[in-house]
Amino acid sequence: MAENNRIYLFDTTLRDGEQSPGVSLNAEEKLQIAYQLARVGVDIIEAGFPVASTGDYEAVKMIANKLKGVTVAALCRATPGDIDRTWEAIKGAENPRIHTFLASSDIHLEHKLKISRREMLDQAVAAVQYAKKYCPDIEFSAEDAFRSDLDFLVQIVEKVIDAGAKVVNIPDTVGYAVPEEFGSFIRAIMERVPNIGRAIVSVHCHNDLGMAVANSLAGIMNGARQVECAANGIGERAGNAALEEIIMALYTKKAYYQKEVQVNYKEIYRLSTLVSNLTGMKVQPNKAIVGRNAFAHASGIHQHGVLQNRSTYEIMSPELLGINRERMVLGKHSGRHAFKDRLEALGYTLSEEEINQAFVTFKEIADKKKELTDEDLEALVNDQIWAVPERFKLEYLHISSGTNMVPTATVKLSIDNKILQVAAIGDGPVDAACRAVDKITDVYGRMLEYKLNAVTAGKDALGEVVSRIQIESKVYNGRGLSTDIVEASVKSYINAINKYYHDQRNTSED
Ligand code: KIV
Ligand code: ZN
Repeated sequence: MAENNRIYLFDTTLRDGEQSPGVSLNAEEKLQIAYQLARVGVDIIEAGFPVASTGDYEAVKMIANKLKGVTVAALCRATPGDIDRTWEAIKGAENPRIHTFLASSDIHLEHKLKISRREMLDQAVAAVQYAKKYCPDIEFSAEDAFRSDLDFLVQIVEKVIDAGAKVVNIPDTVGYAVPEEFGSFIRAIMERVPNIGRAIVSVHCHNDLGMAVANSLAGIMNGARQVECAANGIGERAGNAALEEIIMALYTKKAYYQKEVQVNYKEIYRLSTLVSNLTGMKVQPNKAIVGRNAFAHASGIHQHGVLQNRSTYEIMSPELLGINRERMVLGKHSGRHAFKDRLEALGYTLSEEEINQAFVTFKEIADKKKELTDEDLEALVNDQIWAVPERFKLEYLHISSGTNMVPTATVKLSIDNKILQVAAIGDGPVDAACRAVDKITDVYGRMLEYKLNAVTAGKDALGEVVSRIQIESKVYNGRGLSTDIVEASVKSYINAINKYYHDQRNTSED
């Protein structure tokens, strides 16, 4: 296949994806996702927006320093200050890319930036020239490009390429395009920008009308060579184009598209599960490619067909994506070796110390639960990844609740090697236990969101609680895991409080 049929995958799970409402990943979680993206083989990982917060800056820096064999990009506004800080974060990468952006639509120029078209053009060119002094790989995005005046956009693209941009991104920032329209838009840019051959055109489509993937593919068909997407399609509002859908459309319809990506298909499902577990954003069961039902056949006629030959009702094989139809279980007799092997097969890269800690939890749970499936192991390791230094640790929990009685909780926590115990009442057992925690920690969190999920089927299933807790002006995601759902809830609440303390410590050390 000719070189210009190669499509570059630019993954923005850690940047646009992390901007999904309610999602907040810490540096360790981001690093785990970055490793898995590298295993999938995406060409560019957009690691974050370093100017957004100290946490984002540190996470981008860690990813840039640790990941090899992949381009690490970071986003910044088109100003020298933003570009300087972004370069500081990514300069340790093997192949760093500065991704700078400025809106180009009249709506944004008039109402958000309050600058003229001329000023926008000058600022965009100046930003690319400024970024170029740091590194050769510069991407420029004209935010809200699809709603911009085409003649003006053609000028911008030409000028930023002259200034040194190697990649020019044409986002449909608000997901307003439909495929034929978006395809023609990209075609017009390819035809009208005189120096377009000196840059790669990229597309970045949002999913507000449910067309992000279709629009991206239309862009590819009309000359775009880079596609920006996110695992499970997460991102601002309705999200971005889903990475796995783009990859599998190009693979399954290769005869039609005649384009190629270089990826490790078997790692796709693991990426989806990891992102879903760490962000707390569950994948809808009927989601294309990675949803629980994507390869489930319910009707008798379909089942009969699939038993005769899978191609009757399947256009791709789940095994190709790393979805294992044979389930593997571990139990209390499984050793550390088997445990470690299984975690590696599930795509986790943990240090020996982290494996040891996870193995202790595994043994505790295996004593209560006969069989631990892959989902259980994932939940358990996510506990590890979500862990922050435990200033407060749950040592004991007793609940009394039932019909016609006031729910009461007795909670014992260890704090800096001291043990404190209090009792509290509440509207329900979780409320009572959290109030007791408040009294001990003297931190009064507000529960904004509470999600309880049974990790697997069965009455002995592990309960996983993900909560969003507001403490002062910030929101922390907490996670707790236990076969007892009240315990899982309290652990999740304490996890958020520990994150708050960790944050406080890091901020005061800055
Ligand atoms: O949607 C968008 O326009 C973006 C840009 C910053 C690339 O995310
Ligand atoms: Zn976007």
